[in-house]
Amino acid sequence: MVPTGAKQRPKSKGPADFFASVPRPFVVAHRGDSARYPENTLASIQGAIAAQAPMAEVDLALSRDRKILLLHDETLDRTTDGTGASWEQDWADLSRLDAGGWFGPKFLGEPLPLLSQLLALAQGKIRLNLEIKPDTFEQGGERFLADLMAQLEQAKMLDQVLVSSFSAPCLLALQGRPQVPPLSYLSEGPLDRPSWELLETIDAWGFHTEVGAVSAADAEELKGRGRCYLAYTAADSQQARSLFALGVDGVFANDPHLLKPASTTA
Ligand code: G3P
Ligand code: MG
Repeated sequence: MVPTGAKQRPKSKGPADFFASVPRPFVVAHRGDSARYPENTLASIQGAIAAQAPMAEVDLALSRDRKILLLHDETLDRTTDGTGASWEQDWADLSRLDAGGWFGPKFLGEPLPLLSQLLALAQGKIRLNLEIKPDTFEQGGERFLADLMAQLEQAKMLDQVLVSSFSAPCLLALQGRPQVPPLSYLSEGPLDRPSWELLETIDAWGFHTEVGAVSAADAEELKGRGRCYLAYTAADSQQARSLFALGVDGVFANDPHLLKPASTTA
């Protein structure tokens, strides 16, 4: 959809300019190199760095004592040897969980990582896309956002991090803060009017949507507004190339080596 009568986008801020330097098209390591390592662990981020991925995506969750950690699901059950929700348990207990054994015996003992550990590992090595799950924002609210931003500032990584969310209230709250990292709206559908209006309101860096919702018309519209168009999650190189042909700037993929010749990815 191409709405009319749009305002001119404000001049890009520093971090947005930095992100403009990502070579197009590109592959974002989805939950790190989650094809080879357990997702959302430091091992998967090391894998993404080794793959020279321009960016790694991770999902943020909270513990009961408000530590920010990496976890995709609402519960610990699938990807750790724990059970239940992370926000019902303190970090002292969560830090003892195994987040690697489910993926393979050689990863047994890989811990759940804290955001602070991720930032220390990634600093200067790889851009990060921090995805804030709607539940995480609902649990943590403004205090969670303040903690997140304080950590990014302390790690001097405001220019290395893109924040995305399916939660419009979360993105609007971030936009209201004194320092704003590049923001992207996550959707499961095409660029409809509410999405387009939100992108304008938060002066979004990007629009990330599900691979089945990608269209050339939306790519054109986003390009015209200087916004990045990303699709999740490309299953293989053929699908990635089809998405690039439609005009997406980048794809999320579990395998950051997706576009490389097989002989170089051993
Ligand atoms: O951020 C892109 C993608 O990760 C969104 O879906 O469920 O994999 O977090 P999900
Ligand atoms: Mg995600």
